[in-house]
Amino acid sequence: MLPFKSLISSKQLTPEIITQIFQVTDRMATDIEKSGRTDLLDDKVIALLFFEPSSRTMLSFQAAATRLKAGTVFAQNASSTSFEKGESIEDLIQIVAGYSDVIIMRHAQKGSASIAADVSDVPFINAGDGGNEHPTQSLIDSYTIYKELGRLDNLNLVFGYDSLHSRSIHSLSKLLAQYPNNKFTFTGPDALLPNQAMVNELESLGVACTIKSELTSLDEYDVVYVNRLQEERFKDKKLFEENRRKFRLERDFVKGSNTLILDPLPRIDEISTDVDSLPNAVYFKQASYGVPVRMALLAMMLGKA
Ligand code: NCD
Repeated sequence: MLPFKSLISSKQLTPEIITQIFQVTDRMATDIEKSGRTDLLDDKVIALLFFEPSSRTMLSFQAAATRLKAGTVFAQNASSTSFEKGESIEDLIQIVAGYSDVIIMRHAQKGSASIAADVSDVPFINAGDGGNEHPTQSLIDSYTIYKELGRLDNLNLVFGYDSLHSRSIHSLSKLLAQYPNNKFTFTGPDALLPNQAMVNELESLGVACTIKSELTSLDEYDVVYVNRLQEERFKDKKLFEENRRKFRLERDFVKGSNTLILDPLPRIDEISTDVDSLPNAVYFKQASYGVPVRMALLAMMLGKA
């Protein structure tokens, strides 16, 4: 059982809660391996509202629901719903809460997740609210690091290349900032570095933050976490074009290092495809953890684990 009804921000995911979620995740992974499905949520209906493009998040939530034997109701883009007619988030969520036991929503508007959670009678999960947060992705990312390195503290991490806009970077950095002795470096084009508010927030949690315009070596880092430039968040398209190919992890640079390479994906320009076969490139494994992690979260939020 989790101490919150809705998940809006990774700040809610304390080390103690994460330990519990990971224990249930391990159980879910074993259930998948042994029997493919478990009937934990066979009396539940899960609403999936995806008003922004999604592949991994949408499909892994759907796969998680299927493996938990829950039913699903689904809206995939704004034009297929009454948003098109001008209905508010508040009204739509109140209606969907009457049809389901938990609502998962991705929406382009920053802050839409709190608006929705405030009016929802059923638990609500933020699957991405604009460039703000993506807390379930940060659970998958931290589960991957934990599986590979056995810890979430005493880590030296580098984030790139669009820390300003990447909700995955925002959520993972806030989650890991709650663990002792983690150090963060942000790298990328000047215009895409984290803003001062984000740095202040992380530093107030005790994390030392460094900015590096270029990475000369990966040696000192335990993890490099990269995300594509978030094209859809750029107000100035010229700025996007100017910066999109400036940073890229190349095989020669990565080869021979033990630094884990994570990416929430989709990969666009940020990692060369010949990096994929290196043992420390764990982004496809990371994506596969989406199903057991989201199964655990759903079962726990609905009081079944
Ligand atoms: C991320 C997202 O949607 O923010 N994708 C995902 O959920 N795995 C990252 C991205 O789109 O770049």
